[in-house]
Amino acid sequence: MSDLGDRRSSAGTSGSGSTAAQSFYGRWAALYDALARYTPGIGSLRERAAAALELESGDTVVEMGCGTGANLPYLRERVGPEGTVVGVDFTRPVLDRARESVAAYDNVHLVRGDAARPPFANAGDATFGTVDAALDSVDAVLATFVVGMLEDPGAAVRDWCDLLVDGGNVVLVDAASSERAYAAPVNALFRAVVILSTPPTLRFRYDRDPQATLDRRVDAARDALRDRSSAIAHETHALGVVRLTGGRID
Ligand SMILES: C[S@@+](CC[C@H](N)C(=O)[O-])C[C@H]1O[C@@H](n2cnc3c(N)ncnc32)[C@H](O)[C@@H]1O
Repeated sequence: MSDLGDRRSSAGTSGSGSTAAQSFYGRWAALYDALARYTPGIGSLRERAAAALELESGDTVVEMGCGTGANLPYLRERVGPEGTVVGVDFTRPVLDRARESVAAYDNVHLVRGDAARPPFANAGDATFGTVDAALDSVDAVLATFVVGMLEDPGAAVRDWCDLLVDGGNVVLVDAASSERAYAAPVNALFRAVVILSTPPTLRFRYDRDPQATLDRRVDAARDALRDRSSAIAHETHALGVVRLTGGRID
């Protein structure tokens, strides 16, 4: 494992929302890590997401908003010892946990940076040696439970598409309100979860309704991915609350 430290000074420049998110995830890193790894069904969902990236041995994959690193073992398994896995997150304590979890691997790299402004050579910062060399040919980008936290998820997804080689894949996994027929009780429960997990939590008067904001951002990210993809795959899980969408970018 290699920790590449801070890329650019942009981590956290997305405004007060990102400051609150870093503070929230920093404080709750241990609890989040347990939920991210041991929630029933989450392992198979991460496995599905890794499969949807269509990685081959030796490929390079970037995970945006990697959190405590729960996806990293699945990604590393797909690219093998010859491949490269890069996790990006702007919250230092979660990256510390991710670093511990992949300490045995020398081809898994962790970068502190803003996923909304990809901190790589292709984005104009060419001073980081071997990893940036690998990042000249990014085969896939994964973001799980992240786009709902971005102010402009459509723009971020378009930037992620721009990082890819021809035929590369972007896969998004998110929770949003269910669209299924029996959605009302499911969405009521989901609303409680969203409120409890939206920084700063337990504030019941919001400038923007957190569930509506999340739904809008998740949709905007998918619209951007559909616009850029030559082929798209979409599936839902957990009574329609979890969406997995993959697009191939040519
Ligand atoms: C809900 S967690 C998901 C973590 C991980 N992807 C997973 O599935 O367990 C969201 C993560 O995205 C990170 N994040 C949110 N916005 C970000 C941004 N603009 N740049 C980098 N990381 C971001 C947070 O720090 C947090 O670790």
